[in-house]
Amino acid sequence: MSIKPPRKFFEPLAIGAPAPYRELPVRLERMIHFFPPHVEKMRAKVPEMARQVDVLLGNLEDAIPADAKEAARAGLVEVAKAWDPSSGCGLWTRVNCLNSPWFLDDLTTLVAAAGDKLDVVMLPKVEGPWDIHYLDQLLAQLEARHGVTKPILIHAILETALGVEQVAAIAQASPRMHGMSLGPADLAASRGMKTTRVGGGHPFYGVLEDARGDAPRTLFQQDLWHYTVARMVDACQSAGIKAFYGPFGDFSDSAACEAQFRNAFLLGCAGAWSLHPSQIAIAKTVFSPDVDEVLFAKKILDSMPDGSGAVMIDGKMQDDATWKQAKVMVDLARAVAAKDQAMAEKYGL
Ligand code: GLV
Ligand code: MG
Repeated sequence: MSIKPPRKFFEPLAIGAPAPYRELPVRLERMIHFFPPHVEKMRAKVPEMARQVDVLLGNLEDAIPADAKEAARAGLVEVAKAWDPSSGCGLWTRVNCLNSPWFLDDLTTLVAAAGDKLDVVMLPKVEGPWDIHYLDQLLAQLEARHGVTKPILIHAILETALGVEQVAAIAQASPRMHGMSLGPADLAASRGMKTTRVGGGHPFYGVLEDARGDAPRTLFQQDLWHYTVARMVDACQSAGIKAFYGPFGDFSDSAACEAQFRNAFLLGCAGAWSLHPSQIAIAKTVFSPDVDEVLFAKKILDSMPDGSGAVMIDGKMQDDATWKQAKVMVDLARAVAAKDQAMAEKYGL
């Protein structure tokens, strides 16, 4: 037998560790807001940020200088100890990658000091299910040792060529899997893509329209990330976990950030990273469903109460499949409405 039997997936991997979740906790996660925990000014802002964002993530990996790695870890322990889980905001960390000199101390220190406060560990540079299996086992042992009562979930960054080849196996590797984010910077490097950007399009990646005599020809820019995001969404949704766009590095171009986030939203992603405060509002707008679309989706649900049959609404055919599409939209709108009174009124929910 080369695969684990189904029942084994739901046994704790260490005696005394909490039982794995059978369903993911339902949470609104439109933006995963990164902060550098070694910077005191940023730590001081945490309670205020927790009121503004859906997820706060203490970053320990890339962008944290090597000589600040330990200070970042200690800063995050301080934040996690003071964290109030009733705020409704998720507390995540991005640990250093498995082959780095910091990973083991990141994980052992954080779970020991604040394992009950941590919702999700984001693991960078994941190459295959073997990486998830290792973290899964290690988390279980640490949870057992430190009396952690709810499982800490794993979120993988899709940012190596091998990881993309293995994406479905990564998504299915453990009931601890929460989801996956596109990591366009590392992925570009790993694939040998010829870009220097963090996410977004590229002016040279396009299709040139056909020649028509001497008329000037337009190069229509294409989305460099379309293939990867679509593949990630299929891998995640088929495994019952969530897909996310990752970082958008050009903070000066909020229109391009919004366009890129919106493509990801339309393709099935649940959220994106915000690396700059200006991107919080962008993610909030984009990953909360459009009011007119929600109102139309509600009409579909109301006109087909048992979800079957065929009706016409405003000249458009509706059936069991569009009912399901409408339900995706209205379920998300309900989650947004539960958190945001102004949106609840706009959606009429
Ligand atoms: C994120 O980690 C990226 O590499 O884009
Ligand atoms: Mg990266």
